[in-house]
Amino acid sequence: MPWSPRRARKVASNPNATAKETRSPDSGLRVFLTGTSSGIGAALARHYAAKGATLGLAARRETELNRLAEELRSRYGCRVHCYPLDVASAVALAAAAHHFLAQEGVPDIVIANAGISVGTLTEEAEDTAAFARVFEVNVLGVVHTLSPFVAPMREAGRGRLVGIASVAGVRGLPGAAAYSASKAAVVKLMESLRVELRGSGVKAITVAPGYIETPMTAVNDYPMPFILPVDVAARRIARVIDCGRSYAVVPWQMAIAARLMALLPNWLYDRLAAKAGRKPRGLKDDKGVVITEK
Ligand SMILES: NC(=O)c1ccc[n+]([C@@H]2O[C@H](COP(=O)([O-])OP(=O)(O)OC[C@H]3O[C@@H](n4cnc5c(N)ncnc54)[C@H](OP(=O)(O)O)[C@@H]3O)[C@@H](O)[C@H]2O)c1
Repeated sequence: MPWSPRRARKVASNPNATAKETRSPDSGLRVFLTGTSSGIGAALARHYAAKGATLGLAARRETELNRLAEELRSRYGCRVHCYPLDVASAVALAAAAHHFLAQEGVPDIVIANAGISVGTLTEEAEDTAAFARVFEVNVLGVVHTLSPFVAPMREAGRGRLVGIASVAGVRGLPGAAAYSASKAAVVKLMESLRVELRGSGVKAITVAPGYIETPMTAVNDYPMPFILPVDVAARRIARVIDCGRSYAVVPWQMAIAARLMALLPNWLYDRLAAKAGRKPRGLKDDKGVVITEK
């Protein structure tokens, strides 16, 4: 049966729809994303697949990547390329980008989403390895992801480069110095990129999520105000990207909280933040082994 907007709406509202029935037509949209083996990245991949996009998916866990790719191909009939890699490797990302550019041309959207979060204490020497790894993945990973696409997008005179930061980057959170500092760095590096791209037709977009329901937050045993289901968050992040906003916090309630946090004088911020919940220490690799050395 041919696709039509009316039929697509009917199928979307029918819980008994079969996999074949939810297929989307190729929209011509091309999206390359990192951190798609779980959480926000996987939800964004599902969101864009439902829109008929062609996808490039990158993360370390190959089995999870392949499982998602199979789901998206059979459910939406879209083209999906999988890149099992570590974003700490500039070489691996350059190779993935090269392959995607050769197969699909210049993407419309590249989302540097891969990230890790763990408790760290500056006074604990054993946390030095966690500091290094968090910076390698959260900061250099963004550079490695976006870098190979900048020149082709500039040449094409279009495209959106997206960095996923965090509200945790607005002020330094106790017990999370590495994560807070890495996300503040993402905000600044995306801002530099935005100015560098001024007038080129390419947009640099920063999204700073508040709390989102993903494996990253599942370990938090403290209150997480305004927490969003991951599919809702993905829709809102995609809307920010669609609108081409330079910077946005998701959800909007957290945007207000972040603004207030930024305005607080240090004496008051320190007093309030001292009571904040802390993430467990002990950074694990993708096989669940605690990283103790760089
Ligand atoms: N959840 C929240 O409340 C929240 C709030 C603010 C910001 N964020 C940010 O949103 C992004 C996604 O987080 P999430 O909540 O969706 O967490 P998640 O479910 O833990 O997903 C993180 C993703 O990043 C990938 N990843 C981690 N290290 C990687 C590496 N070295 N190389 C390649 N891929 C790597 C993981 O895949 P592999 O393990 O397979 O590599 C996974 O797909 C992160 O940047 C995070 O900091 C999340």
